[in-house]
Amino acid sequence: MCGMSLMQEIRGYEVPRNAVAIWWLGQNGFIFKTTEGTLVSTDLYLTNSCAEAYAGSGINLERRIPVLIPPEEANVDLYTCTHNHLDHTDPETIGRLCHKDTAQFVGPHPTCEVYREKGVESGRIVPAWPACEIEFRDVVIRGAFALPTDDSDLNHMGFVFQFGKGPRVYVTGDTDYSELLASAARHAPDAMITCINGGFNNLSHYEAARLAAQIKPKVAIPCHYDMFPDNSVEPGQFRASLAMNAPEVRYQQLEHGKPFLFSL
Ligand SMILES: [Fe+2]
Repeated sequence: MCGMSLMQEIRGYEVPRNAVAIWWLGQNGFIFKTTEGTLVSTDLYLTNSCAEAYAGSGINLERRIPVLIPPEEANVDLYTCTHNHLDHTDPETIGRLCHKDTAQFVGPHPTCEVYREKGVESGRIVPAWPACEIEFRDVVIRGAFALPTDDSDLNHMGFVFQFGKGPRVYVTGDTDYSELLASAARHAPDAMITCINGGFNNLSHYEAARLAAQIKPKVAIPCHYDMFPDNSVEPGQFRASLAMNAPEVRYQQLEHGKPFLFSL
C-alpha cells in the first residue's frame, strides 16, 4: 500500500490549544508536536545499531519494533538526546538525518560530540545538563537529574519539556534509582514518561511507580521495555505498581506510531 508516511502524518496533524501530541517510536524515542507546530524529538533510535554493537556478546539486542520513520525522513525542529548510549544517541540515526542544517541539536556534552562527528555544525549544537534551561520558539527544555546506570556514560540526564501553553512532560531517560530524581517535581510536570525495564540497572517498574508517587504527574507513561528481547518487561507490572504506590496517577500505555493527544 502506498500511504502517507508517518512523518507526513505527523507534519499534517493539527494540535489543539493547551495540548501536545506525542508519538512513540519505540524504546525512549518520541516525537512531540506543539499547538504552534514545533516538532521535538527525544532519543530517536531508528536503526539496528545495538544488535550490531553487541553481536556475539550473548545479549540479544535485535530491534523488535519496526523502524517507523527512516532516519532520512525524520525531520524535527529540536532533536534531543538524554545520554550517550547507542539506543538514545544513535550515531547511525544522526548520521543519516537529512535536516542537520535546519534543526537544533540538544544534549549533554558526550552527545554533542556525536552530533559534531556526524556532521552537525557547531552553531546548531546546544549543550544541556541537569538544571539547565533552554528556550526555542514555544518550547522550554529544563534539564533534570538522572543517575548513570554504569560507567560507560557518566552524563545521564532527564528533560522536562514545556510545550507552549500546553502540558509539561518529564522524560526520565535511563536512570538508576536515586532520591534526587524527585527533584523533577519542582517543575510540576503534568505527565511523566519513564523507563520501567529494571535491566542494565535502570529503574524497575516498582521504582518508577514510587518515583511517580513523588513527582505527582496526572499521567505516567511507561517506555524502554519494548525494543530488545533481552531488555524487556511486561508493562502491566508497572500499571499494577502504579495502582499500588500512586493510585492518583493515571496509567497510560502508548501504541507505537499512533498519536496520543495530551491536553491540560
Ligand atoms: Fe537505554
